[in-house]
Amino acid sequence: MSLIEQAKQKAAFQAVDEHVLPSHRVIGVGSGSTVVHVVARLLQRDPELNAKTVFIPTSFQSRGLLLDGGLTVGDVEQYPNIDVTIDGADEVDSQLNAIKGGGAAHLQEKVVAEAAKKFVIVADYRKDSKVLGEQWTKGVPVEVVPFAWKAVLKKLQEQGSKNANLRMAVAKAGPVVTDNGNFIIDAPFGLIHDPAKVLKDIKLLTGVVEVGLFCNMAEVAYFGCEDGSVTIR
Ligand code: 5RP
Repeated sequence: MSLIEQAKQKAAFQAVDEHVLPSHRVIGVGSGSTVVHVVARLLQRDPELNAKTVFIPTSFQSRGLLLDGGLTVGDVEQYPNIDVTIDGADEVDSQLNAIKGGGAAHLQEKVVAEAAKKFVIVADYRKDSKVLGEQWTKGVPVEVVPFAWKAVLKKLQEQGSKNANLRMAVAKAGPVVTDNGNFIIDAPFGLIHDPAKVLKDIKLLTGVVEVGLFCNMAEVAYFGCEDGSVTIR
């Protein structure tokens, strides 16, 4: 396993061990490569405990991981009160604001995180920043209804994201389509010193479904480090 993968695994395992309690009955599970390790650790729990627990996925990917592991899945309509949600992130600032949506799943991820009593982020050391935009330069992922993408792109450019662009599938086979049937615009804003303001400004644009800025949501973040340690913030 590569050093990066080991770092992801360390962070994920420790977060599960410290935040998924035997008393918890509803657990939110994010998306992405770090969350693969979250699910692996959940599968190492007492099977009787897992049989009494419902897991709420945030994407086609995490639903598949949970089902493949034989776990019971539910949704926020059935389980609006989640004990804890654990998810990855593309970048996290010193205030625990995060950019998410590198995997185009941030709409469901935000709903499942907001429904939880506690939202925990797991990541490797490359995601740990002082200010958003320091390391994640691809931009803020913005989910838009397909019909409105060009209009929203223009507005994002007017808001200062000159290089905002529609996210394309591999080999430019067409736009990436989210699990909700929408498109993604990646909107770089340089260093984001006031993520709550950027979030609000983008969210107000007609046609925007959700913005991959998670402000004041995470209670704690676990970063796996190169030397095998885990930084908790
Ligand atoms: C998907 C996400 C992911 O959590 C984020 O992209 C991090 O993924 P990874 O753990 O693979 O680096 O927000 O929409």
